[in-house]
Amino acid sequence: MTSAPSIDGFNWDYAPAPERTRPDIASEYGLFIDGEFVEPVAGKSFKTVNPATGRKLAMIAQGDEADVDRAVKAARAAGGRWSRLKPTERAKYLFRIARRLQECARELAVLESMDGGKPIRESRDIDLPLAAQHFFYHAGWADKLHWAFAGCQPKPLGVCGQIIPWNFPLLMAAWKIAPALACGNTVVLKPAETTPLTALHLAKLFQEVELPPGVVNIVTGAGETGAAVVEHPGMKKIAFTGSTQVGRHIMHALADRDISLTLELGGKSPNIVFADAAIDQAVEGVVQGIWFNQGHVCCAGSRLFVEECIVDEFVAALRERMAKLRVGDPLDKNTDIGAINSTEQLSRIQSLVEQGQQEGCILHEVNDEALPRRGNWHRPCFFTGVEAAHTIAREEIFGPVLAIMTFRTPEEAIRRANSTPYGLAAGVWTDKGSKVFNIAAQLEAGVVWCNTYNRFDAASPFGGCKASGFGREGGRHGLRAYLKLAGGVA
Ligand code: NAI
Ligand code: MG
Repeated sequence: MTSAPSIDGFNWDYAPAPERTRPDIASEYGLFIDGEFVEPVAGKSFKTVNPATGRKLAMIAQGDEADVDRAVKAARAAGGRWSRLKPTERAKYLFRIARRLQECARELAVLESMDGGKPIRESRDIDLPLAAQHFFYHAGWADKLHWAFAGCQPKPLGVCGQIIPWNFPLLMAAWKIAPALACGNTVVLKPAETTPLTALHLAKLFQEVELPPGVVNIVTGAGETGAAVVEHPGMKKIAFTGSTQVGRHIMHALADRDISLTLELGGKSPNIVFADAAIDQAVEGVVQGIWFNQGHVCCAGSRLFVEECIVDEFVAALRERMAKLRVGDPLDKNTDIGAINSTEQLSRIQSLVEQGQQEGCILHEVNDEALPRRGNWHRPCFFTGVEAAHTIAREEIFGPVLAIMTFRTPEEAIRRANSTPYGLAAGVWTDKGSKVFNIAAQLEAGVVWCNTYNRFDAASPFGGCKASGFGREGGRHGLRAYLKLAGGVA
């Protein structure tokens, strides 16, 4: 455990505040197909570990093409009844799932932190409430689709293949399953290989609320399992969140198929701070933007552009704030920065940080306290002396690493912010409302936050442009991706 650094010249030493709730983790998990946990056809399994300790948590079934085929058949068989169910009845199931998620929130939050490494404060206060919110929100839409798309006779697509990453495992599952079900589709979900546990526990909640068998099927495994989901001819839609590289691959694989596709991919999002911004508030927003969830966020504000005349003041304030971040046990309620999700991700971050230094950027890493001996850890840090051409200013790092650059005019800020293949999110910090609207309108990003960062709501569509993908999740726009419309344009 680390102790807190000096605050106002005073050395606070917090007592640890460990979370006492312990979820019931089985030693092994099967695939969830047709309402039951079943053995994979080939009988293979892999382990999921706790990245904070390196210890195994459970063995997980490894699904292959044959298992995906079973899951698709179950989803197709369930689809007829599910799509014809009265929408108010479908909504009742979603409401029940939302309520069970709330009731089990503490165990699931702990499980999420154990399997993925994120601080309990985040999984408890952000992931779980938002996951429940997505089911509540979409339950409300189930019987109002004809109002959402008036005159367009909305119809479900059929079986949806959904592939999700490890940064928000349960939340991503909720983001994808809730709208699909509300629209009358059935689902085959493939969780990420390092974080399958919360999705499998969600499956237990589906059993408890008696969701009809086959409506949601969960096939665990790594990239090959994901590829089997994508390639199955029975899929009517693929929704993918993950790396741009895999997203491109999926797009190629589906190029000649009549299938609906949404991709939510990587980012290198700019956070732009003008001299007239409330500096303390902006510092907090930048901290939220890059050090939330260890920087394992697709929309992380990983490029910071500060107006040149305030850069010294801003960097000093940021450094002081960074020194107060506590790195350590994800299950300690005082922890700000938890464990890096996997050893592969840690070495990816480390090699990019090394490359930044080799290319001449200046690394600032104020917190020099000892890190836990076991597990995957990376201190929060930032770089100055960064030019647009440097690797760390161009490539997604997906870790707690910020690249700071400056600008002199709003035009320069916009030009530099847009100078990236990505277009997921952006942040603007200024006291002037007119400037907010002017800048936001010119930023090439799916989401622009003004005087805040990393805010999410089930009613608000999320998604990117350019190499960050296409399609939206959340809100009415997110529903559109799960429906066939006829008789009009929505
Ligand atoms: P990834 O894109 O390989 O993994 C995401 C999901 O896709 C996982 O469930 C994985 O099993 C699955 N997958 C992998 N290969 C597949 C294939 N050929 N067909 C279908 N599904 C496949 O991401 P990875 O390797 O975990 O992380 C690499 C980098 O990707 C990170 O450093 C980060 O830059 C970025 N990333 C972005 C995310 C986002 O939210 N946009 C989430 C995770 C990673
Ligand atoms: Mg794990």
